Amino acid sequence: MASITPTSPNTIRSTHRPTLKPLVVPERLLLGPGPSNADPQVIAAMDQQPIGHFDPDYLVMMDEVQELLRYAWQTDNALTYAIAGTGSAAMEATLANAIEPGDRVLVAVKGYFGHRLVAMAERYGGAVQTIHKPWGEAFTLAELTAALDTYQPAVLAIVHAETSTGVRQPLEGLGAACRAHGCLLIVDTVTSLGGLPIFLDDWQVDLAYSCSQKGLSCAPGISPFTMSPRAVEKLERRSHPVANWYLDATLLRQYWGPPRVYHHTAPVNLTYALREALRLLAEEGLAARWQRHQKNAEYLWAGLADLGLTCHVSEALRLPTLTTVRVPDGVDAKAVIRKLLADYNLEIGGGLGDLAGKVWRIGLMGYNSQPQNVDTLIKALGEVLRAVA
Ligand SMILES: Cc1ncc(COP(=O)(O)O)c(C=O)c1O
Repeated sequence: MASITPTSPNTIRSTHRPTLKPLVVPERLLLGPGPSNADPQVIAAMDQQPIGHFDPDYLVMMDEVQELLRYAWQTDNALTYAIAGTGSAAMEATLANAIEPGDRVLVAVKGYFGHRLVAMAERYGGAVQTIHKPWGEAFTLAELTAALDTYQPAVLAIVHAETSTGVRQPLEGLGAACRAHGCLLIVDTVTSLGGLPIFLDDWQVDLAYSCSQKGLSCAPGISPFTMSPRAVEKLERRSHPVANWYLDATLLRQYWGPPRVYHHTAPVNLTYALREALRLLAEEGLAARWQRHQKNAEYLWAGLADLGLTCHVSEALRLPTLTTVRVPDGVDAKAVIRKLLADYNLEIGGGLGDLAGKVWRIGLMGYNSQPQNVDTLIKALGEVLRAVA
């Protein structure tokens, strides 16, 4: 094979030079646990040239994203910004910044993502204790308060909307209980932000994170993160540096606000997208957004009942963004998922962990929470169930 230059000793080794056609992405209706379809206006916002991440216009955009996030979460937290990464990166950011080695950390586990919190908290040196609920149930405030009494943790972490089970965890009163115990409260709002009521400050939540690809109807890869003044105070008192350089809030806050010091190259186009997604949320208004999700979820639940299917979670605790539906006896859950995708271009999710093979997971999130999507799904699911019976 020819060398690159007459003097180069190197040669291009591959005998298989890939010759691919330009990318064509199939059109799918994403009604699973995420990602959801992005709002076309968000895609249009992304579809522009990058600008520099210190461009004055970009810095304005960063400030706007922070202001919009505060609205979405109903918080005044100054330290509110977006992490360059998916929801797991933002999850890791909360734990990395909240936990010092040896801190007692209590994780209230009632599904798959509770276990992920445990795994991450252990990596940051937390002395982790757990309490558990069956997958499909939520903790009561009395149970959580009793656990705070027993374990006296420095940090309590809990998932608001458990995507593996479809359960909404009521949070009223928990922040006050944590404060009474001198404990920081971390809440995962990955499947709740932009889809169901969240009042971060009223609920006295200290750290929260989310993702872009569900209730916000944005592309994945940029994730909301926030810390209360109490959490920042603990951060500033740390005796060990945050054990993750990329996610260290003491560094990142100097990029998201004055003195605007370089930290990493921002995912500029995802910032355009997130700004547009959050702008659309503010334009619709939180109350209208939450009502739309609830109404369309109830329409879905009625349609599923008409098909003879049963929801896994009691209606009072059911998420409007994500519904778990029990797989009828004798039905191959994966075959149904495969056929919906192959024949209808429609994606739903299967069960995770304890619920693997037992439920399907149907998401109606953000832009996708529309009655016509419910009609499309119910019709397709009915036909597929008859075909596989
Ligand atoms: C409740 C919850 N937490 C965390 C995550 C992790 O987010 P990501 O997959 O964007 O990394 C997910 C993902 O679905 C989730 O549902």
